Amino acid sequence: MNAETPDDTPRGLTVRLRRRQGAAWGPGSGVGREATWKRRLPSLADIEHAARRRLPRFAYDFLAGGTGDDLGVRRNRAALDAVEIVPRYGELSAADTTTSLFGRRYAAPIGISPAGLDGLAWPDATRLLADTAHAADLPYITGTLASASIEEVARRCGDRAWFQLYGIPADGHKVTFDLVSRAEAAGATTLVVAVDAPVRSKRPRDLRHGLVVPFRPTLTTALQVAGAPAWALAALRSRVPVFANMGRYVAPPGRPATLDEVAGFVQRELRGGFTWDEIAELRQRWPRALVIKGILHPADAERAVRAGADGVLVSNHGGRQSDAAPAAIDVLPAVARAVGGDATVLFDSGVRSGLDVSRAIALGADAAFSGRGFLLGLAAAGRRGGDYVAALLTDELRTAMGQFGVDRPERLRTLDIRHATAWNVEPGLII
Ligand SMILES: Cc1cc2nc3c(=O)[nH]c(=O)nc-3n(C[C@H](O)[C@H](O)[C@H](O)COP(=O)(O)O)c2cc1C
Repeated sequence: MNAETPDDTPRGLTVRLRRRQGAAWGPGSGVGREATWKRRLPSLADIEHAARRRLPRFAYDFLAGGTGDDLGVRRNRAALDAVEIVPRYGELSAADTTTSLFGRRYAAPIGISPAGLDGLAWPDATRLLADTAHAADLPYITGTLASASIEEVARRCGDRAWFQLYGIPADGHKVTFDLVSRAEAAGATTLVVAVDAPVRSKRPRDLRHGLVVPFRPTLTTALQVAGAPAWALAALRSRVPVFANMGRYVAPPGRPATLDEVAGFVQRELRGGFTWDEIAELRQRWPRALVIKGILHPADAERAVRAGADGVLVSNHGGRQSDAAPAAIDVLPAVARAVGGDATVLFDSGVRSGLDVSRAIALGADAAFSGRGFLLGLAAAGRRGGDYVAALLTDELRTAMGQFGVDRPERLRTLDIRHATAWNVEPGLII
């Protein structure tokens, strides 16, 4: 589907807009589209609301939901909402959001987190988010389970491509190590090793919908698709979402893998966790920046740095792994105290505004990432929805910095913060 088709506009808006704006608005007019989004989708809460209306129910539930009773999803939000930053006045310099991560300068301390089955948000989500990373000059952690290959992502967004690794332990990690070599050859600048999904989590929403890969429609899900015409049309016009990095390991040479084969392979062989010895081995093989994703304990952060990591990504997987895990923002200060001097500290889980980005940075992160924010942006606004979310988060961060009286993101850390739910474990006391 073309980026400029009216399908990019939330359902029902097209006709009304044409009527109101006459010939000035129409396909090809990015200005009209953005003005519309700014009015209709001024915040990520509005975007989530629109996404919920535009997506089939099973797709929305897969993206927005967490594990168990969604306690982790809610805990992330409640904890972020409760972080207060006390503004300081008397300095009026303009906010400069640019930020260095692993020796490269980005437009803002904001990144895109990896997501498997991202095509459920909008067809071609991986390609579209790679384009967003390129246009907005932000890092994009594309996933092992992304819907476009690491080679294609790197072609689209260059050295903004980071690669998130899950393990395929069979045959002495032959496939895992091949993925690492491919990421290096493609030009990914950072390897992000995810350790926080050692077993599959239970997601009751998906179980209720019978959501399996490859997708097998039931009467109920078919009706849900029929009720989401923009999504269904875009899906029909696009390539079938697959685990694009995996195909070559599944089918014999010369024949493309079927969806069933790829899905079966992932189901059987993939493991979402690594031992510290495996991480040390990955360190030997990967010559560029190495980040461990899913860290919640300062002792694990220290362990990661001892194993050679250049950074840790503090995350509870957006509340999708354990309902008893703490809110990621609540452990961030302890992790930052433990390793902040020696390693880059990144954050995700619950970020829904530029203000949240400023909260994470104030509490010790060098940058904050969002998973669902970008996915729901695609769902709500179509192909350029990721670009819109990138601009929205960056603008909101700039506003927050202006409100707090800081000109550089790192100066957020000089502010006084009230964070009642922080986990105040001291690094020296941890074994
Ligand atoms: C639909 C979906 C799929 C995900 N798949 C992966 C994945 O394949 N690998 C991974 O490391 N994290 C995955 N995550 C977790 C995200 O990378 C990120 O940690 C999380 O979304 C952050 O929380 P947020 O969505 O509240 O921003 C996924 C998250 C979502 C929402």
